[in-house]
Amino acid sequence: MVNKEEVYKDVVTYISELIEGKNNPSGVLCNVTAALHDALPYYFWVGFYIVEDDTLQLGPFQGPVACFRIKKGRGVCGTSWAEAKTLIVPDVEQFPGHIACSSLSRSEIVVPIIRNDEVIAVIDVDSKELNSFDATDQKHLEQVAEILANTSLL
Ligand code: SME
Repeated sequence: MVNKEEVYKDVVTYISELIEGKNNPSGVLCNVTAALHDALPYYFWVGFYIVEDDTLQLGPFQGPVACFRIKKGRGVCGTSWAEAKTLIVPDVEQFPGHIACSSLSRSEIVVPIIRNDEVIAVIDVDSKELNSFDATDQKHLEQVAEILANTSLL
């Protein structure tokens, strides 16, 4: 098993470097998902859903084809948006209304990106194993969310 804390520290530093001085949002956000996906072996799908026109719209991601739009309050992503908080789902089958973009996903974490008290996007990560995500994932993904909230990329 990887030492998550060490891997996340390195990848968050790397992400800060990938972002610095860049003004190509889709390219930078693609690189952010690629850096996370490459670093953490239990990441099956990682990507952004971005708030546009009162809906979450699929943004840059790594992994299989995913759902295109998610309404507020729907699924794990829409619930994280509505509640403006991180959700850790140890077993997606136990989450009422979970949206199964891939039948292979077993556990999930969704972290909102908040600017001026408003959710502007979420980071969504799926794993093929149960119970993949914990407070360490939450802490570092919330750091990534905060870094991105303070850029003009979203
Ligand atoms: N499972 C999510 C949908 C997005 S996919 O996992 C990529 C949800 O329930 O909101």
